[in-house]
Amino acid sequence: MKIEIDHEKLNHEIDSLASFSDSDPPAVTRVVFSEQDLKARAWLKQRFAEAGLIVREDAVGNTFARWKGTNSGVPPIATGSHIDAIPHAGKYDGVVGVLGGLEAIRALQRAGFQPERPIELIMFTSEEPTRFGLGCLGSRLMSGTLPPAAASALTDSEGETFDSVRQQASFTGPLDSVRIAPGSYSAFVELHIEQGPILEQEKIPLGLVTNIAAPASFQITIDGEGGHAGGRLMPDRRDALCAASEMILAIERAALGSGAADTVGTVGICQVHPGAVNSIPSRVQFSLDLRDTDPARRDRVQAEIEAAIREIAMRRGVSLAIDTVNSDPPAESSPEILAALTAACDADALPYRRMVSRAYHDSSFMSRIAPIAMLFIPCRGGVSHRPDEYSSPEEIASGVKVLARALATLAGGTEPN
Ligand code: GLV
Ligand code: MN
Ligand code: MN
Repeated sequence: MKIEIDHEKLNHEIDSLASFSDSDPPAVTRVVFSEQDLKARAWLKQRFAEAGLIVREDAVGNTFARWKGTNSGVPPIATGSHIDAIPHAGKYDGVVGVLGGLEAIRALQRAGFQPERPIELIMFTSEEPTRFGLGCLGSRLMSGTLPPAAASALTDSEGETFDSVRQQASFTGPLDSVRIAPGSYSAFVELHIEQGPILEQEKIPLGLVTNIAAPASFQITIDGEGGHAGGRLMPDRRDALCAASEMILAIERAALGSGAADTVGTVGICQVHPGAVNSIPSRVQFSLDLRDTDPARRDRVQAEIEAAIREIAMRRGVSLAIDTVNSDPPAESSPEILAALTAACDADALPYRRMVSRAYHDSSFMSRIAPIAMLFIPCRGGVSHRPDEYSSPEEIASGVKVLARALATLAGGTEPN
C-alpha cells in the first residue's frame, strides 16, 4: 500500500497547536485545564471531526477519536499521546503522537485502506506533572493504576483539587467511570520524539522502544528555624535552604555513583519559605525525580539518598519529611507490536534501532491493560522540555508513515488494489 504523508498540513497543525500557549514563542506552556489547554482541546476536536472520526471524552477529559472498523465487535487498536506542555517547553513533545496519529489515520484514509478493527486516537489528560504533581493522570486513571479518590484529592499550587478543576473544565462524570477493562484495546502504539540524542547521533530515523524506564518521584520537606538575616549569628542557625543544598548535591552524587548511565536524579522544584532577602529560610520543599531502567538499582539509589539526607538533616538539626508521590515499575513493549513496527520500517526501507525510553509516557500505564510499544523519531541535539525542541518535517513524516503502516497491520483490513 502506498502511504503518503501530508507533512505540510501536519507541520502547519503543529504550529497552530503551539499558538495555544501561555508563553511567548518559541516557548510553549500549556498546563492542563488552563484556558489555553481548553482552547487547544476544542481546536483539536475540530480536526478530529474533520477527519470523520467519532469523538468522545471521559470524565477527566481523556479524548478518544475513533475511525470505525468493518468489525465493531473486536477491540480497537489505539494510538495517541498528550498535548499538555510543561512551562517553557517546545511544540513537539506529545503533540507529534497526537497530530501525527491523526495524520497517520488520514493517510490511511487517503490510501483507501479500510480497517477491520476500529482505530482509536487518544489524547490523554495531564501527562505532565506540572499542575497536580503527578504525571500521566489520564492514563493512570484509565488503567486503574491511580484510585479515583487519590486523583480527586490531588491539589494544585492554588490548593484547588483535581476534582474541582476538572469539573470547572466541564468534565463532570464520576471519576470511577474513567477506568477501562484490560483488553479494551488490542494494542496501543505511541509515536514520540526521542527526548535524547541517540537517534540523531547515530543518524537513524526511527527508534523502536523495547522498554520504558521506571520513574519515581518524591516531595521532601525540611523544617529549620527562620529569623532575622542580620540578627541571627551563623553558629546559631538551622537554615532549611542550606540543608536542602547539601541534600541536593548528595542526590547528584548518588545518581552519578550508581555505576549506570541509566540512573538519573533531578531536583526541579525548590520552594523556599518565607522567601525574603533578609529572612533565614525556615522551610524548604523540593521535588526529587528519580528514574532507572533497572527498578532494583533505582530502589538502591533511593535508599542511599534517603540515608544521606537523613544524616544531613540530623547533623544540621532540621526536621525532614520524605513523601513518595509515585514509584512505578518499568514497562515492556510487546513483541508483536515491535514486529509490526519493524515490518513497517522495512517496507519503506527506513533504518531503525531498538532502544530504551528514559522518559515516561502514557504508554507506561497503558501497558497495564494492553500490549504497547513506542516509536521514536530524532529531536535536534536530543533537546526536549525546552523551547528549542525540534524535529524536522521529514523526521516527523517518517515516524507517521511507519505508524500508519503498523496501525494498518495491527488493525487488519482491506488494502486498495
Ligand atoms: C515526561 O514528560 C517525563 O518527564 O518523562
Ligand atoms: Mn514531557
Ligand atoms: Mn511526552
